[in-house]
Amino acid sequence: MGQTPPAAAPAKPAVIRRPPAYPERPPADPAVVARGKATYGLRCTFCHGADARGGSGGPNLLRAELVLNDKDGELIGPVIRNGREGMPKMDLTAEQVVEVAAFIHSFKVGGYDVSRMTPLTIVTGDAKAGAAYFGKTCAGCHSVTGDLKGIGGRIPDAKVLQQSWLVPGSGRGEGASRAKPWTVTVTEAGGKRTSGTLVRVDDFLVTLTDGEGARRTFTRDGDVPRVELKDPLQPHKDLLKSYSDKDIHDVTAYLVTVK
Ligand code: HEC
Ligand code: HEC
Repeated sequence: MGQTPPAAAPAKPAVIRRPPAYPERPPADPAVVARGKATYGLRCTFCHGADARGGSGGPNLLRAELVLNDKDGELIGPVIRNGREGMPKMDLTAEQVVEVAAFIHSFKVGGYDVSRMTPLTIVTGDAKAGAAYFGKTCAGCHSVTGDLKGIGGRIPDAKVLQQSWLVPGSGRGEGASRAKPWTVTVTEAGGKRTSGTLVRVDDFLVTLTDGEGARRTFTRDGDVPRVELKDPLQPHKDLLKSYSDKDIHDVTAYLVTVK
């Protein structure tokens, strides 16, 4: 006769209470975080790491007391503006500071990493709406059968793809080194124009590399010669402010389908 084994005492749920590694914060607007991430990628990743846990020379920011006590940039801002030993001062706008702070604070908010733009949020974008947005906003400069042909296949990681169109040149954590060089046109007093890639410019001199790869330097005296600088990525810097969270996910969902 089988005997019913005594029922095991219900296991007491193990309650492990650790002090929170990072203060709980309400999740920030994902569009603000995305812009902060873009700025952070260009200006901070190199030293503090893409995940803010430390990089070449910069400390882990998520463990820094100053960062823990910061709410929306009021403590991080002065560090950015004044610099620190081993950290150059940077003139970000007040808005950029708030965005960068929101990005840094977005790590581990309630266990959900907004800043990482999880694939889930990317695939929930509406590719059709993204195509329409692309037609309206991007098609003046790009074409998915031309310069962006096969971009979804070329950049299979949706997160990298998203970063590549949000801030071209910032991709793969390589920072500003991948940014496109500025171009410059110098018009001398007699009307002679020389265009090329900007090497350096200040109030007294402008140096460029011309079409033949030769370095040319011009002395400046006020408005002579006339110097016109062009940042090839200016259109993208301007657009960054206008994207909503939905636009960002829709456009990425669309670009993923461009194989
Ligand atoms: C060239 C490397 C470099 C870059 C670029 C850089 N940092 Fe730093 N950062 C450092 C170093 C080194 C320290 C530590 C300085 C010290 O010990 O006082 C630091 C310290 C900080 C601190 C203070 C941490 C603390 O413990 O008090 C904050 C906040 C910070 N950085 C934020 C940023 C942000 C945001 C950016 C981008 C906008 C940035 N840093 C760009 C190197 C860098
Ligand atoms: C006013 C022109 C202009 C507009 C508008 C514009 N771009 Fe760009 N885009 C550029 C330029 C210039 C570059 C940098 C040169 C290059 O990489 O060919 C660039 C680069 C890119 C790159 C990187 C290309 C690569 O192969 O790595 C992507 C992706 C991109 N843009 C997507 C977009 C999307 C998506 C939009 C709309 C939301 C958009 N662009 C709007 C001009 C523009």
